[in-house]
Amino acid sequence: MNYDIKDITLASKGNLRIEWAEQYMPVLRLIRERFAIEKPLAGIRLSACLHVTTETAVLMKTLKAGGADLVVCASNPLSTQDDVSASLVEHDQIPVFAIKGEDNDTYYKHIARALDHKPMITMDDGADLVSTIHSERRELIDGIMGGTEETTTGVIRLRSMEANKVLMFPLVAVNDANTKHFFDNRYGTGQSTVDGIIRATNVLFAGKVVVVCGYGWCGRGVAMRARGLGANVIVTETDPLRALEAAMDGYSVMPSIEAAKMGEIFVTLTGNIHVIREEHYNVMKDGTIVCNSGHFNVEIDIDTLEKICTKKRRIREYVDEYTLEDGRKINLLGEGRLINLTAAEGHPASVMDMSFANQALCAEYIAKNADKLGKKVYPVPKEIDERIAKLKLDSMGIEIDDLTDEQQKYLAEWTMGT
Ligand SMILES: NC(=O)c1ccc[n+]([C@@H]2O[C@H](COP(=O)([O-])OP(=O)(O)OC[C@H]3O[C@@H](n4cnc5c(N)ncnc54)[C@H](O)[C@@H]3O)[C@@H](O)[C@H]2O)c1
Repeated sequence: MNYDIKDITLASKGNLRIEWAEQYMPVLRLIRERFAIEKPLAGIRLSACLHVTTETAVLMKTLKAGGADLVVCASNPLSTQDDVSASLVEHDQIPVFAIKGEDNDTYYKHIARALDHKPMITMDDGADLVSTIHSERRELIDGIMGGTEETTTGVIRLRSMEANKVLMFPLVAVNDANTKHFFDNRYGTGQSTVDGIIRATNVLFAGKVVVVCGYGWCGRGVAMRARGLGANVIVTETDPLRALEAAMDGYSVMPSIEAAKMGEIFVTLTGNIHVIREEHYNVMKDGTIVCNSGHFNVEIDIDTLEKICTKKRRIREYVDEYTLEDGRKINLLGEGRLINLTAAEGHPASVMDMSFANQALCAEYIAKNADKLGKKVYPVPKEIDERIAKLKLDSMGIEIDDLTDEQQKYLAEWTMGT
């Protein structure tokens, strides 16, 4: 078997950690039990480009139980858990191409190896497989039934391909399922981003001024959790509706240049480029901590920081301290890559249970419906979304009310008033 990982001797450590995550993924476990019997992915080659974490391993084992012939590569050079890669290779015979800390060249070589598998289904987190296929590996297009996309930034890239009429196969936007972004982006990113900042710095949140750039699904989660730890949270936005929501949720809202003078910890979660840049560095306080939890490492203008600093040193494992000409120091965490996966372990398994249940069921959906799908970005079918919500509630032991007959009739009625 062909693979490229850091160290195969880490396999048993990885296996235990995967087992731990599995305990918190009851919905995916149920899907795996059914997949093992029905084999809906039999004969299907699938290439996955995902953060190689314990939760991803549970998804890979589920797809393999369903009969898929799999390979996995990293969707970020710094997010791989090397013990998980080793375990997937050693215990599950799934080829992995991912090494934590790989350089950009190796990152793209690993994507190329995953594509050498000639996928019939692609599974992306950030659309790097799909964009590489469309730009460099077009010979693969004819053999592809469709693909899935995990994150907001990836879906934005795919929608832009669709709008420009260059998309060549169907894609399902897993991110847009309610059981994905309501929970993963908000509660998952909320908790794990704060976790990443704390693991990287051991900083006290209580009393700190935390600036959250972007009040989307992820930003809401980070703002909520930072406030829960006692921070004073400032939100910056470009969308008036989201800014209004942040203001009514009780946060201070202001332009980023004003926030730059007051903030002590900055987190970007916008999916946009250069949200923190030179004009902000120029007014930031000495000792400011800056990090990103958006998909790509473009949200903080690192090149400029490199240019304007007089000294740079790695003061802790995930902290680069940049000294500016006037002596102020700015601390950049995790090289500007998503801090929750760089310095912590990414989202907790309970929330990835729903995201990856969507992935597994959408792979099955593509396998069964490829001939009916066009060159478009599709939403996750409503029945899949609802089924996952129901299963998750069941697994949490939560029961809810059913509508009475009278209530159902009332809701379908349009003539009745007071
Ligand atoms: N760290 C993780 O594990 C993780 C998990 C899920 C999603 N993501 C990524 O996080 C990013 C945000 O995802 P989301 O689901 O919250 O997206 P979203 O679209 O719901 O929110 C993004 C927000 O950023 C705002 N924004 C855009 N440009 C801005 C700017 N210059 N300044 C301030 N605000 C700006 C937008 O108006 C929007 O409200 C994406 O890149 C997504 O792929 C990361």
